[in-house]
Amino acid sequence: MADRRPLISGNWKMHHDHFEAIRTLQKLAYRLTNEDAELVDASVHPPFIDIRPLQIVIETDDLPIALGAQNCHWEDKGAFTGEVAPPMLAKMHVSYIICGHSERRELFGETDDDVNRKVKAILKHEMTPILCCGETLEEREAGEAEAKVERQVRAGLDKVKGDQVAGMVIAYEPIWAIGTGRTASSDDAQAMCGTVRRVVADAHGADAAAGVRVQYGGSVKPTNIKELMTMPDIDGALVGGASLDPDDFARIIQFRLQP
Ligand code: PGA
Repeated sequence: MADRRPLISGNWKMHHDHFEAIRTLQKLAYRLTNEDAELVDASVHPPFIDIRPLQIVIETDDLPIALGAQNCHWEDKGAFTGEVAPPMLAKMHVSYIICGHSERRELFGETDDDVNRKVKAILKHEMTPILCCGETLEEREAGEAEAKVERQVRAGLDKVKGDQVAGMVIAYEPIWAIGTGRTASSDDAQAMCGTVRRVVADAHGADAAAGVRVQYGGSVKPTNIKELMTMPDIDGALVGGASLDPDDFARIIQFRLQP
């Protein structure tokens, strides 16, 4: 972690109905201190139907937690049954939108081109994309991890201006570490997050590379976050399973206090 502000994001995936979402958010907020809010940005990414109720709770109680989404379409409106448009999310004061998560790429056929359109649409509506990349176990064992991540980052950021890239977030998530309890070693995670930053520097310039926040994701827990956050190119984490539990997620946000 350099002097970039840490961002810890909770990807709730398809968990928590709106009652559970409100309860989880309130418990999380109760555990966070003013010092946490001064030092760390935190976001929660619930299912779409929870966003409006959580917006009301966050704004009514002035909670130090940013609202996020897990996906969106790239068009502003139209005949796209089942999709949600970026301006709809902007209206609910969503700050961060995950795009190109490996589950969306693998299970719902999202291509690099789709992901690039989403990144540009999110930026157009003044929200921050969290662009996901990462390799499978087979790709890692075949020595293709870096090339895969480089391709995803270049394609995801195609025709995005350097000053916009500087404000973005890129999440490196090795697919073999997602939901498996297996985490990349902090050295491997650093090496790949360093690769992400080098690719950004090459494609978008030194200022973009210095500004972009790179998250590590894949079985992040209260017990491994502190070491990950000591790495120079890791600026935060995208947390799945452990973000569903407000105690665990608060401890991850409070990584500096962990033993
Ligand atoms: P995990 O998920 O923390 O449960 O491994 C991470 C993610 O998919 O973003």
